[in-house]
Amino acid sequence: MNNFKNELFYKYALVVFLIIAFFEGALMFALIKSFDTHLKDKLTIIASQIDPKNFNKSTLLNLQHKYKVFPLFVRITTINSDKFKQNIKEGYSTNTINTPLKKEKVLTYTTVKDNSIIQISTLYSTNDDKISIIKFISIVISFVIYLIVLLVGYKFIDTIAKQIELTFKKLKNFNSNVSHELKTPLAIMKSEIEVALMNENKECDKLLKNILEEINYINDITEKLLFLTKNYQQNNFEKVDLEELIFELYEKYSNKIEFTFDFGEDDYEITGDKTLLKIALGNIIENSIKYGADKINITLKKNKNKIILTIKDNGIGIPKEKLPFIFDEFYRVDESHNKSIKGFGLGLSIVKNILNLHKAKINVKSEKGVEFIIEFPAANQKSQKVGL
Ligand SMILES: Nc1ncnc2c1ncn2[C@@H]1O[C@H](COP(=O)(O)OP(=O)(O)O)[C@@H](O)[C@H]1O
Ligand SMILES: [Mg+2]
Repeated sequence: MNNFKNELFYKYALVVFLIIAFFEGALMFALIKSFDTHLKDKLTIIASQIDPKNFNKSTLLNLQHKYKVFPLFVRITTINSDKFKQNIKEGYSTNTINTPLKKEKVLTYTTVKDNSIIQISTLYSTNDDKISIIKFISIVISFVIYLIVLLVGYKFIDTIAKQIELTFKKLKNFNSNVSHELKTPLAIMKSEIEVALMNENKECDKLLKNILEEINYINDITEKLLFLTKNYQQNNFEKVDLEELIFELYEKYSNKIEFTFDFGEDDYEITGDKTLLKIALGNIIENSIKYGADKINITLKKNKNKIILTIKDNGIGIPKEKLPFIFDEFYRVDESHNKSIKGFGLGLSIVKNILNLHKAKINVKSEKGVEFIIEFPAANQKSQKVGL
């Protein structure tokens, strides 16, 4: 996983570097280009202000300071021949000259005014100094941005990698649990069939019954697993009256457990999928029956736009430290304690998935027995039940 994380990070760092370098390059190019244009414009303006007949050193110094072009060289050549004048190439030219220290780039603007050729030149390097500072600042800023983006990216990649790692772990766990759960009943079925084939008498009936029981078990687990892999959506959502739903559950389970109810005077309508909700609440009630309860108390009350449903039993309860895990797939509290009670720890994860789909929250408490507290968003309807 660390390798994956590092690889992802290196690729990210490279891509970010290339993007920033590209923008930095583009910025530099634009900067130099605009500096060049700016310098050329200045030389043109200076040239337009030079009067060839009335030009001296102090005019030169004035212009140099006014337009901040250092150094400024001006050469004025008087010409009388029209032919020569026609051959003069007006405009800009760039030359390189060798100075004792380095090669210098010189920008020259040539123009003809009256009978004079005016040539104004300046060195790129001295003027360059101004943009060198801008260049330097921009590189420093880019570098700082690069570091910040790397740091944020690293944190982000780290979180994603951890999430992926967790998902992999869960998947691995899930797979091993599934194989384990399916292996036992299959092995039992195999040996029972082998025995049934050896005995040609009434023993067969008992063995076949056992096989049927195991087949039902595998059926149950595969159905639950399939249920968990399906991606349910809110397409079939309709108004569901929770009181009505609880009554239907009461009818289904009242021969197995005693119910007491405590409902407020409000309307308990939510939007949801009735079949799925029945599976979820049914799973909770079936657990109470399975884990030693003979009484179950269901309450309904409304708090602003939330409907709060509680289901409390008087069964064996769940130790506090185990409560955070009971909604995990395949989690069973104390396998050895539960051994006599069949199950594979999928019921409550199905409950959680269905409630998530309904944007409902579920909490669990356990003191004497277990209490599930479910908070549903109420359906968008403000009507209140009117008591007679
Ligand atoms: N009402 C309850 N009373 C006691 N323990 C419970 C109750 N409901 C759930 N549990 C515990 O939570 C575990 C997870 O429940 P569930 O996901 O329905 O799996 P299963 O019932 O298949 O074991 C159970 O194994 C059981 O230990
Ligand atoms: Mg269960």
